[in-house]
Amino acid sequence: MSYASVYEAWKSDPEGWWMEQSKAIDWDRAPTKALDESAAPLYEWFPDAMVNTCWNAVDRHVEAGRGEQTAIIYDSPVTSTKREISYVELRNRVATLAGALRAKGVEKGDRVIIYMPMIPEALEAMLACARIGAVHSVVFGGFAANELAVRIDDATPKAIIAASCGIEPGRVVHYKPLLDGAIELATHKPEFCVVFQREQEVAELIPGRDYNWHGFQYGVEPADCLPVEGTHPAYILYTSGTTGQPKGVVRPTAGHLVALNWTMKNIYDVDPGDVFWAASDVGWVVGHSYICYAPLIHGNTTIVFEGKPVGTPDAGTFWRVMSEHKVKSFFTAPTALRAVKREDPTGEFVKKYDLSGLKNVYLAGERADPDTIEWAQAQLGVPVIDHWWQTETGYAIAANPVGLEPLPIKLGSPAVPMPGYDVQVLDDAGHAVAPNTLGAIAIKLPLPPGTLPGLWNAEARYRKSYLDTFPGYYETGDAGMIDEDGYLYIMARTDDVINVAGHRLSTGAMEEVLAGHADVAECAVIGVSDTLKGQLPMGFLCLNNGASKAPEDVVKECVARVREKIGPVAAFKLAVVVDRLPKTRSGKILRGTMVSIADGKDYKMPATIDDPAILGEITEALKTLGYPAA
Ligand code: COA
Ligand code: AMP
Repeated sequence: MSYASVYEAWKSDPEGWWMEQSKAIDWDRAPTKALDESAAPLYEWFPDAMVNTCWNAVDRHVEAGRGEQTAIIYDSPVTSTKREISYVELRNRVATLAGALRAKGVEKGDRVIIYMPMIPEALEAMLACARIGAVHSVVFGGFAANELAVRIDDATPKAIIAASCGIEPGRVVHYKPLLDGAIELATHKPEFCVVFQREQEVAELIPGRDYNWHGFQYGVEPADCLPVEGTHPAYILYTSGTTGQPKGVVRPTAGHLVALNWTMKNIYDVDPGDVFWAASDVGWVVGHSYICYAPLIHGNTTIVFEGKPVGTPDAGTFWRVMSEHKVKSFFTAPTALRAVKREDPTGEFVKKYDLSGLKNVYLAGERADPDTIEWAQAQLGVPVIDHWWQTETGYAIAANPVGLEPLPIKLGSPAVPMPGYDVQVLDDAGHAVAPNTLGAIAIKLPLPPGTLPGLWNAEARYRKSYLDTFPGYYETGDAGMIDEDGYLYIMARTDDVINVAGHRLSTGAMEEVLAGHADVAECAVIGVSDTLKGQLPMGFLCLNNGASKAPEDVVKECVARVREKIGPVAAFKLAVVVDRLPKTRSGKILRGTMVSIADGKDYKMPATIDDPAILGEITEALKTLGYPAA
């Protein structure tokens, strides 16, 4: 079947098409219909179905006689550990953990926060929650205690499952003090915590509140899979928006199963039993969908890799893992390949490994620059496929559906919309623009199964953030265009979100932190281009008259503050003190113009600028930071 015929089949009968895809899932009660539009523009999929995610990701493969197949390969160069877990072992481990959670009172609908590094126990914790209908929310280890506290207060979890530590190259990340600090900061207190003690660091437990992962599971009755409604939240995953308050993206159970399962063959071209590797982190959506859920739902072997593309121990790590575990399909962020390319431009490490099993490489998380794609294709000799998606959708909006029909690759484009997505480029008035014309990228409602039905406890914010600007459409927050062949080009964000090393961050959240410094009167954070990380945050600080500290001390304290309040992942290291910020006459900060100056790009003097002289001052300030970069 061709992409065009499948896309057309979906478009002409979405209900029938999704019902057909739903047959690949094991239902406790099969859906009698796909879409419920009674509350439009809020939509729900498979509302009358009953199903369990853990059953579909684990138990059903054991029942089908594939229990001995490896479900998870754990490969951790930072701890020199390798381990394989079969589907039957995974089933037993998850059932016991789920039983222990249930014995401590965790029930269907209760939230459980998971704060763990890249270890198989993180996936086991996710699946254990799914097994008993609890709603997990995984928090990335690179966030500081304050960010964890914000998520604790929003999700109000009954329990938190954590590890004692994470391992970053050259340092141990002490999770337990971060966890304790977050619980102290939060208004909501979890009833209990479970701590997986790692060899590298044994954390001190608080009696009565904290349980040891192993002791906690001792002698408990394993839990069976509990069927839940198709619309039951499978998880909440927080992502950056325009303010410091992250958005709790809700993932619905049934649509998630149906849609992810479809992507494994049609986009990633793997069959059950093949080894699939997404080098991301369980704290991000890529980790949820393509380290944990999709490969397991589809009966693949997934790799949990605890390491970095470079330095653990060298720029050949990716290729070593691929050849050793016979990876067929590999998924990473462009920034990771740029890091490898920088250390090994001629691919000397690639030549050391047998990569004959590798069929395709997939990139997402940020714009894939043509240079990186061409370099990777030349080194690896396989197609390098860019695809575009968001935490909100949970899987690709646009991709090259290689397993269905490989389409020609156009460098700079994540290719074409996947079935389920009617993607349009709109002007400010909400009218579709002509091909090759820039505009806001929007998706005609309803979004397909598995995408967010809303934000956790924040319907008004959901409507305002995504539905109100273009009635009848979901606003993606990305700007770009569609060419005459229907290929999409994603050019920029339309909001204050920036993308640093494939990590989505809010400049608004950083501004809130900077504004909290006693000497800062006003500030702006922009994303400047970076050859490795795509973008880097840069802060401009205006100090109060009579500020108590020297400008260079304020800068240092602000850098430390962002690390302490948001976390090291913000990578906020560039800041400068200026007298004034460039603004329009109505007081809007001209961030876009500042970005152009920092990137050394031509820009038009904004007609509404209040005082053009300020741009000269900004240019001088940027020079002190070494921008525009050579
Ligand atoms: N726990 C604690 N700290 C973390 C962390 C985690 N899970 N992940 C990152 N950090 C820290 C890093 O140690 C670093 O701290 P530092 O300022 O003390 O050096 C900081 O956060 C920034 O990390 P990162 O942006 O990852 O930069 P890096 O310089 O350490 O590494 C790359 C650069 C390109 C190798 C790395 O960013 C990378 O592998 N990127 C791929 C991203 C990816 O897979 N994204 C998922 C979306 S698909
Ligand atoms: P996240 O929710 O963290 O996955 O980030 C989603 C955002 O990352 C998107 O809205 C885009 O801005 C950006 N993004 C993701 N994939 C791509 C891609 N293939 N090309 C360009 N931008 C991308």
